[in-house]
Amino acid sequence: MPVSHSFTSQEASALAEEFLAQGYVVRPVDDRPALDELRDRVVQVACDHLGLPFPDDVSDFLNHFERLVPVEKLNDLRLNTYRKMNAVPWFRPTYFALARSKLEALVGNELAMQNRVNLSIQLPQDDSSLLPIHSDAFGGETPFQVVEWLPLVDCYRTKSMFILPRSANERVLADFTRYENQGMDTLFEDVKDDLVWLDVPYGNVLIFSSNHLHGGVINEEPETRWSMNCRVTGLFTPYTGAEKKLGSFYLPITTRAVTKMGIAYNEPSGFRE
Ligand SMILES: [Fe+2]
Repeated sequence: MPVSHSFTSQEASALAEEFLAQGYVVRPVDDRPALDELRDRVVQVACDHLGLPFPDDVSDFLNHFERLVPVEKLNDLRLNTYRKMNAVPWFRPTYFALARSKLEALVGNELAMQNRVNLSIQLPQDDSSLLPIHSDAFGGETPFQVVEWLPLVDCYRTKSMFILPRSANERVLADFTRYENQGMDTLFEDVKDDLVWLDVPYGNVLIFSSNHLHGGVINEEPETRWSMNCRVTGLFTPYTGAEKKLGSFYLPITTRAVTKMGIAYNEPSGFRE
């Protein structure tokens, strides 16, 4: 008899198990042509800013951006690209759609998404935009979130980011007070051998829990990193951070019909005795 023995599909269970063990998963995007189009738009915005024609080789253009823009002009370009992309009406829905199946399996199908998608550009040897080891939950972020992290070029070793897998993360957090005095540099040294440098080739998306210690170092590879990131959380989870509220920082994106109906429901007056 074709009965069900589990409430989740085998594929979703495997993804969940991997995520819980590592704190992250890397998978191909759900829609490769959409990714290519999104990347082309980023390149177009950057070209407009620099007064350059659209390049023949998009991947080479991004990977060797250090040949086109000096580090002191990079942040202007990054902010301009961030603003222009976030003003494109299809940007956030498309960004979400690239990881939809994984986000639904890991987080849920009624979701809230950060109001903007961040952009990070890291030239080789650039030390101006580093993200030292941290956990977002320390800063008042909801622990119920994941980060959807999307590379626009192949990301590997120091051109990528690092994360601490579960067993090491639990070990460190259990004894975390010692780092209050010793500082995060000591912490980085202590966990260096346990860190995983995430290999995320273009065409893939990384979904990670920012409860796990993570960060980045100086990009020692001979190529520029381009990546985007955005937080996603369940619509019905606690929103603890004062500035990270639902309705401003997080916006509902996939509210289902019955939820809308339930929210709109008013109990008829006089129904209760
Ligand atoms: Fe973070």
